[in-house]
Amino acid sequence: MRITDTSDLWWKTAVVYCLDVETFFDSDGDGVGDLAGLSQRVDYLAELGVTCLWLMPFYPTPNRDDGYDVTDLYAVDPRLGTLGDLVELLRTCRDRGIRVIADLVVNHTSDQHPWFRAARLSKQSPYRDFYVWRADPPPDTSDQVVFPDQERSIWQLDEGTGEWYLHHFYQHQPDLNVANPRVRDEIAKAMGFWLQLGLSGFRVDAVPFLLDTTGVPDEERRHFADPHAYLRALRSFLGRRAGDAILLGEVNLPHEEQAAFFGGQDGNELTMLFDFITMQRLYLALARADAGPLAAALTERPAVNPDSHWATFVRNHDELTLDKLTEAERQEVFAAFGPEPRMQLYGRGLKRRLPPMLGGDPQRIRMAYSLLFSLPGTPVLYYGEEIGMGEDLDAEGRNAVRTPMQWTAHEDGGFSTAPLSRLAVRPVVGRYGPAHVNAAAQRRDPTSLWNFVAMLAQRYRECPELGWGDLTVLDQPHPQVLAHRCSWSDGTVVALHNLGAEPVTVPLELGEQEPGTRLIDLLQPGDTVVDNGGGAELTLKGYGYRWLRLDRRGDRQLP
Ligand code: NOJ
Repeated sequence: MRITDTSDLWWKTAVVYCLDVETFFDSDGDGVGDLAGLSQRVDYLAELGVTCLWLMPFYPTPNRDDGYDVTDLYAVDPRLGTLGDLVELLRTCRDRGIRVIADLVVNHTSDQHPWFRAARLSKQSPYRDFYVWRADPPPDTSDQVVFPDQERSIWQLDEGTGEWYLHHFYQHQPDLNVANPRVRDEIAKAMGFWLQLGLSGFRVDAVPFLLDTTGVPDEERRHFADPHAYLRALRSFLGRRAGDAILLGEVNLPHEEQAAFFGGQDGNELTMLFDFITMQRLYLALARADAGPLAAALTERPAVNPDSHWATFVRNHDELTLDKLTEAERQEVFAAFGPEPRMQLYGRGLKRRLPPMLGGDPQRIRMAYSLLFSLPGTPVLYYGEEIGMGEDLDAEGRNAVRTPMQWTAHEDGGFSTAPLSRLAVRPVVGRYGPAHVNAAAQRRDPTSLWNFVAMLAQRYRECPELGWGDLTVLDQPHPQVLAHRCSWSDGTVVALHNLGAEPVTVPLELGEQEPGTRLIDLLQPGDTVVDNGGGAELTLKGYGYRWLRLDRRGDRQLP
């Protein structure tokens, strides 16, 4: 095993942490989180074991979609700070060994972006073709809208010029026309700008929509016949500007369709893709206390180039989408984790965080995070997961999971010194409020979720087999148990997770082993002798989890 490889392809063993600057830490008491505040919390992230920070959009914005409606691709929202503050953050992160990536939102702009304002002034505007227009009334596209609670069509009439513009998301987010080479130049220039400032890549928003050429005139489309060639071009541009930078793509498609976004076996498009399928099947598995759906998702992942990688997650800033489950499966998950209509969103997802969905059961919550860190793929945490934050079901839509980070037991979670009434976002109240869930108390408590997650991050970093290895789902008799093995070079890590509430004993068959081989527990003291035939028996409590390293006599790894 060459440990040095892990620093080249750093994303394969990274611990990614996503946050919105606006809700993380307010340094100047104006009620809005800011970059200077985030810089003050970099040591917190380093201590937790974060190695890559993903910043949600921090660009100037009317903020009608939490910053995913950008009016300037080259600046920082003045509410959050300045470019100078961003550079200070990047330097501080670099010093603590943390890379920083940011959302690249270029499927669309805000309708307040100067390009769109110019585009809608007249059909002759030099910016008209930055967007996608149609002159004839559109057909019914209500089945294609992403936000069915707000939108009925992906086309919106522009009264001034009498034509319709394309918007896959909200109508205030007109889609850019990437078939236009000038738009492509602008996207590259913006990427180059942020890479030059020190970003290590991008989380690319809404990639399938970005490549989609719906409504683009035939003539223009002829010159843009292969949208994936564009993704390849973006990737090589990225590599030329910053050799170790990554593109982490949002591509919520079935596994077989995702492969193309990696660039197939060539691996020359997106570096990483969020594994939405495994995430959704994980919830089905948890709901059923049956590891089968999860095991199937993992083994059905398409084979990818060794440099490409999956990003795994249990929650993010959007609804917990269950759109790739069948209707019956989705209803099972709703019934288990979000039975009330006010917990559900868009008919396809849940506006909840994990701990309340699991009834606050500390053992089950830990088992879920142990799974996340032990599955092959780079774990991506959403801020507050490390302390078990809950949601605000009274908040509108996806805002339920976008509440201020809870630092202390104070009513506002120590997020700001502004009066509560001046906070941009209302803190959670009740059982998951700051009095019960906060970082200050947990950091000092060795038995806390925070310390557990920090340990997982550390063990995961010590086990490159998980990021680099080949996965085998091990045969064993209990449907509620996932037993998997990751082997890389001469190292093997085995992980066991019991999705059921009852204790079990798991017989494992690991293939012929040298005499004296042991399975060393990595999350607790202890080890188990493996017999010469490779057999071992391991116990798991209800919702139990164990990580074990196969230790052969003569191995030089520090157990
Ligand atoms: C995906 C982002 O995750 C979501 O928050 C946003 O609303 C849409 N893209 C539109 O940018």
